[in-house]
Amino acid sequence: MNVQLHAVDQGAGPPVLLVHGFPMDHTMWRFQIEALAQNYRVIAPDLRGFGQSPIESIAAKTGISMADYADDLAQLLDRLAVGEPVTLVGFSMGGYIGWQFCKRHRQRLRALVQCDTKAAGDTPQAQETRFKMAEHVEGWGAAHVAALMVPKLLAPSTLQGNPKLAEEVGGMISRTDPVAIAAAQRGMAHRDDSTPLLATLDLPVLYIVGQDDQISTPDEMQSMADATPQGRLATVAKAGHLSPLENPTDVTGAMQEFLGSLST
Ligand code: MLT
Repeated sequence: MNVQLHAVDQGAGPPVLLVHGFPMDHTMWRFQIEALAQNYRVIAPDLRGFGQSPIESIAAKTGISMADYADDLAQLLDRLAVGEPVTLVGFSMGGYIGWQFCKRHRQRLRALVQCDTKAAGDTPQAQETRFKMAEHVEGWGAAHVAALMVPKLLAPSTLQGNPKLAEEVGGMISRTDPVAIAAAQRGMAHRDDSTPLLATLDLPVLYIVGQDDQISTPDEMQSMADATPQGRLATVAKAGHLSPLENPTDVTGAMQEFLGSLST
């Protein structure tokens, strides 16, 4: 399928591809884009239907698989003439897409950064919750999804101490097209268990997790790092699930250290 994704393409140097989470857009990486573009070519797309990228309305019913999003990214790299292997940085759903990118486009990868994400697939209960949202989001409106999700995305300390960020994240989710929300929920519900992939990964992998992440917990991410031959975990203080926005200094620092180690 020919999909034209909107993407920020900033800076020069080894390419870094930033893949946002659900139901967000590339602006969740704003701190990392500014910092990493000093030394790298940073490409930060909006996935199909999110931010400024278009989506076909039928996708609300058919769903978009993690493999399809991964193929969209490979197509974007072709369009931007990025021939050099990239470091893919995936946040949460962006991480699920990262596993598929590994399976389908391994030769295009230099390394992986997997941020606040999981390798396991959904439990039946989690699938049920996703299907319910996919079915009803058009009637509910995206603002309802924001109200459900913001308290789970941010650490209690962020909710209390940084209400401006909570408002900003709520606004980003509220502006999301319900078609994109439904399509991604169906795609995530059907995603594979990527746990068996971890032991086969033949590239450096940095895992990053907020210490108060309740969605992809530090224990779960430690197990993923342990199962990955060249994997290691950075735990970020003062952050929940949305660590790139909650503690951008430490998240960006961990990424810079990792990216710097790749060139030596
Ligand atoms: C995300 O942040 O992308 C979501 O929490 C992923 C999910 O719903 O599993």
